[in-house]
Amino acid sequence: MTHRKAPLPSRDVTDQVIDVMLRVHGHDIYGYDPSFLARSIEARSRTAGEAGLAAYGKRLQSDPAEASALVTALGIHHSEFFRDPLAFALLEQRVLPDMLEAQRASGAPELRVWSAGCAAGQEAYSVTLLLTELCIRREKRARFRVFATDSSEEQLARARLGRYSEADLNHVRLAHLRRWFSATGHEHRISQELRDRVNFSRHDLLDPDSCCPPASIFGEFDVILCCNLLFYYRPAVRLQILDKLQRCLVPGGVLVTSESEAQVVADMGDFRPYGLHAPLFRNGG
Ligand SMILES: C[S@@+](CC[C@H](N)C(=O)[O-])C[C@H]1O[C@@H](n2cnc3c(N)ncnc32)[C@H](O)[C@@H]1O
Repeated sequence: MTHRKAPLPSRDVTDQVIDVMLRVHGHDIYGYDPSFLARSIEARSRTAGEAGLAAYGKRLQSDPAEASALVTALGIHHSEFFRDPLAFALLEQRVLPDMLEAQRASGAPELRVWSAGCAAGQEAYSVTLLLTELCIRREKRARFRVFATDSSEEQLARARLGRYSEADLNHVRLAHLRRWFSATGHEHRISQELRDRVNFSRHDLLDPDSCCPPASIFGEFDVILCCNLLFYYRPAVRLQILDKLQRCLVPGGVLVTSESEAQVVADMGDFRPYGLHAPLFRNGG
């Protein structure tokens, strides 16, 4: 039996959905990437049991619960510890040791890191684990602070709890698992020490009135991780987010993205690739 893919909504249907979501329900979904929006609308219309996309569009007009369900479907929160092994290897072996050394030499009070779009905290705890171990091993006097933000309060609550399934931990080394996690059945909890080191707060990267995590007071980050988030947005919105991040990075600070988003950063022209084939960039074109 051959399976035919369901057709994606036409541009017109997608535009109608964007319009109804804003006009009737007050949800602004215009900024999402059009093909991601089309795929999400098609998937939601199937899950909602509608016969076709036109019928789904009509239903949205009078069904606020379905409008909320569509908004929820647009929030993709998948994450893993050490999700991009190459990027984290570079952070561990070059970027963070060099920065800690520079911090010690210059007498700067602390190294500042921001995980922007942190989901349930896997990325923020990964970098915190590396920094903690580097400090224990070679830079006892070094100080660092890690801020982690997301637009979803639900994800932030999960992050603060710090409980993870085995699937989240595929890239965690056994030594790290033993040292920094405690297991209860199939669940693994990140240690209190690492939980205490990360400041989680809500921050919407699209909010024009707020430039950096509220608790950080000022930006001036040495490292910002913004991974697997840009590609859900339209090109103009991606640039708006990158512009905000660039303004929060110190000159020469490092931005980490995902492999599939690296080209967007390279095209922007304000960042220099940190090395070949890695989605790491230095602030300063
Ligand atoms: C796919 S997850 C990626 C998590 C992690 N950075 C990683 O690479 O594994 C994307 C996260 O970005 C968050 N996000 C999306 N748009 C955002 C925005 N405008 N402001 C803040 N967070 C946002 C989502 O809520 C979600 O938790």
